[in-house]
Amino acid sequence: MAEIAAELDALVVALLDERRALGDDAPPDRTTRLLHEQVDGRRLTDAEIVSILRNWTMGEVGTLAASLGIIGAFLAGHPAEQERLRADPAAVPDAIEEVLRLHGPLLANRRRVTRDTTIAGQPVAAGDRVTLLWVPANRDPAAFSGPLAYRPARDQSRNLLWGEGLHVCPGAPLDVAGLAPQPQATPQPAVYPASGFASVPLRLE
Ligand code: HEM
Repeated sequence: MAEIAAELDALVVALLDERRALGDDAPPDRTTRLLHEQVDGRRLTDAEIVSILRNWTMGEVGTLAASLGIIGAFLAGHPAEQERLRADPAAVPDAIEEVLRLHGPLLANRRRVTRDTTIAGQPVAAGDRVTLLWVPANRDPAAFSGPLAYRPARDQSRNLLWGEGLHVCPGAPLDVAGLAPQPQATPQPAVYPASGFASVPLRLE
């Protein structure tokens, strides 16, 4: 894991160096924008930009990619439910929450404990490092009756799919996103003999 993290850090720093060298000719993308971003009157450090881009790529693209596989596998294995959802698209959001409760796309996040306390009878001390395991928590019988059963109509208020508290996922509302063209960016056609596009800049709204 440490090696992979170092590899990603180096990749991102190379992108930053490339943009710094290009100056005004740097591509007007998010990486360049982050280089010029000011927070509390100062530029972001390379380490901060690496962290943000790691979150965007691993945390967000990764969870969405995993969700597609999880939902696809579930639907393939449950043809009657597939039919029901096709006939009643309004039932799809609840079904997604329940499928991803049963098999979450994001396994864990880590925290450093800020004060001495007890979690489920287990003492933890300020400074300890803990791992939050979202998937087992979402199968906890204390939170969900018959936790391993697929019940799309169940109360999802204790579903930890999107986390909880200060760091709750700000991407969650995007499941109702619409698509719009990116301003000042045009789709690039694919090169012969392929058809379609090499890239289509879109905005999620
Ligand atoms: C099914 C897809 C997704 C799942 C299951 C998911 C889940 C989560 C969870 C559990 C957290 C809390 C992490 C923590 O407590 O440390 C989180 C944080 C976050 N998510 Fe998502 N996420 C998904 C997709 C997305 C997408 C598409 C975006 C953005 C477009 C996004 C943006 C973020 C960001 C920026 C944070 C960090 C928030 C913070 O630390 O304050 N997520 N996500």
